[in-house]
Amino acid sequence: MKRISLTQYLVEEQRLHNSIPAELRLLIEVVARTCKTISHAVSKGALGEVLGSAGSENVQGEVQKKLDVLANEMLLEANEWGGHLAAMASEEMETIHPIPNRYPKGEYLLLFDPLDGSSNIDVNVSIGTIFSVLKAPEGMQEPTEQAFLQPGVKQVAAGYAVYGPQTVLVLTTGDGVNCFTLDREMGSWVLTQRDMKIPEDTKEFAINASNARHWYPPVKRYIDELQAGETGPRGKNFNMRWIASMVADVHRILNRGGVFMYPADAREPDKPGKLRLMYEANPMAFIVEQAGGKATNGKQRILDIQPAKLHERVAVFLGSKNEVDKVTGYHVDA
Ligand code: AHG
Ligand code: MN
Ligand code: MN
Ligand code: MN
Repeated sequence: MKRISLTQYLVEEQRLHNSIPAELRLLIEVVARTCKTISHAVSKGALGEVLGSAGSENVQGEVQKKLDVLANEMLLEANEWGGHLAAMASEEMETIHPIPNRYPKGEYLLLFDPLDGSSNIDVNVSIGTIFSVLKAPEGMQEPTEQAFLQPGVKQVAAGYAVYGPQTVLVLTTGDGVNCFTLDREMGSWVLTQRDMKIPEDTKEFAINASNARHWYPPVKRYIDELQAGETGPRGKNFNMRWIASMVADVHRILNRGGVFMYPADAREPDKPGKLRLMYEANPMAFIVEQAGGKATNGKQRILDIQPAKLHERVAVFLGSKNEVDKVTGYHVDA
């Protein structure tokens, strides 16, 4: 089998569709290379002294793990000097990270969740990195937070890495979704799945069911119907999976279908959900749509949401088209 590397894929894609300019290619390659480094650190675990808490809290009010901080630093450091970026933003940083003056600046904005699935780090369960790429508004010299507040439809690229039994990188630049597997011996990303497509129907759902007592009626109704099985209104049995790493749950859905939900609930009526629009929901929604699936907040397409702030949170329903339509329909009817 002829092996196609990430670099070859990006160069050929540019030649065919003119969709990946050199600066964007450089950006994607730098992020992919950093994911290799993060993967290496993750796989060392206790031997690399990377497990456990960093003893600090992020702007989300979460206790930071050592790997949250480390992966964040790795991504910042690797992406600062290449000249392809105007600024960066991350789940782990309160404010944006401008490119230091000693380096040239480019036209792209990079956003990331450096380590997704933090609660799984210390128990050796799949975790990952999620990223999103926007263009800085034209003519903007020094990007401010405002520059990042663009709806997800404006993304020019998005992707994630999963550090699991295999390390994989899933990428879209708006022309379908492709998956690359890390060849550790060669140190290269090899194209292993072309044009991934999410089946429109599914018998699998993902939700943190421990929150059931807090769910609002549309979610409760939807899940009750799934759980009623073949004698219920849906007329079939559904299986449940919840990894508690969004990257790993989305990766399963990309491979065999399913619906992933992190709804808003009555615990904190003012909070529109747990997941972050800019670092989690938008890049995943872009990937899922590019693979033929759907992503909404229950009422609206996620990619159409105009963010009001950098760390905005959002309810998420994504995956197989017909199930996302169904649960979204229950919200719209409510
Ligand atoms: P992060 O580790 O980046 O803070 O994100 C964790 C997110 C997401 O990956 C996952 O789906 C969800 O939180 C898990 O939430 P529960 O702990 O409620 O299961
Ligand atoms: Mn976190
Ligand atoms: Mn996350
Ligand atoms: Mn994270």
